[in-house]
Amino acid sequence: MNILVLGDVVSDIGCRFLRKKLPAFKKLKNIDFCIANGENSAVGNGITPFSAQYLFDSGVDFITTGNHVYRRREVYEMLDERDDIIRPANFSKGNPGKGYSVVDMGFTKIAVINLAGMVYMDRCDNPFAVIDGILPEISDCKIKLVDFHAEATAEKRAMGFYLDGRVSAVFGTHTHVITEDAQILPNGTAYMTDIGMTGPKNSVLGVKPEISIDWLKTGMPARFDTADGECILNGCIFEIDNKTGKAVSVEPVNIE
Ligand code: FE2
Repeated sequence: MNILVLGDVVSDIGCRFLRKKLPAFKKLKNIDFCIANGENSAVGNGITPFSAQYLFDSGVDFITTGNHVYRRREVYEMLDERDDIIRPANFSKGNPGKGYSVVDMGFTKIAVINLAGMVYMDRCDNPFAVIDGILPEISDCKIKLVDFHAEATAEKRAMGFYLDGRVSAVFGTHTHVITEDAQILPNGTAYMTDIGMTGPKNSVLGVKPEISIDWLKTGMPARFDTADGECILNGCIFEIDNKTGKAVSVEPVNIE
């Protein structure tokens, strides 16, 4: 089956671009299941019920998140109630939401797991230990997909090799910059360090460049307004064999 994963969707401009491009692209590529990272989909950062629903209504089947997931309180109830939106599994026990979820497609089951990195990120439990605890609980799912929301490329690649042969795909999010290392690892796991973002092209991770520059130069507090103009939609298509759960192909996506 063909699984499309999309990098962090940034604000309303990214949401609108996704809605414009996604339906036709899914048809063109015969996409069976689409995941997007939605932790920046709300205007002013975070995710709200409105921005999450906007992504679902645009053709996204499942939403993963990351370090900004709890920024907007109004989404907490949705995180608790719905199974198609998750937050990193290695956040504190008892926090709103769940860290993984299983989607029953009828002909197969897909498990999606969300993890957060430890390096240059906020405090969280060790993602390597946490995933070891989760995998036995989803052993009946052939297809297992891991969104590793992390900053450091080395931590992400280490996770890829750690899970090689144990899950179908490991993809990174959070940096908003697409990497050129999509590959199938030696034991059959599809891997890409970062699948990039869906949002304004001429920006610093979605933010107006002049604001980022000023903040870096002066260290003064800044309001990180989203840039406008031309958009990009980044991600990756993983073709997974439903019988074995192994990756057949990986194809990075970069639509302008
Ligand atoms: Fe993030």
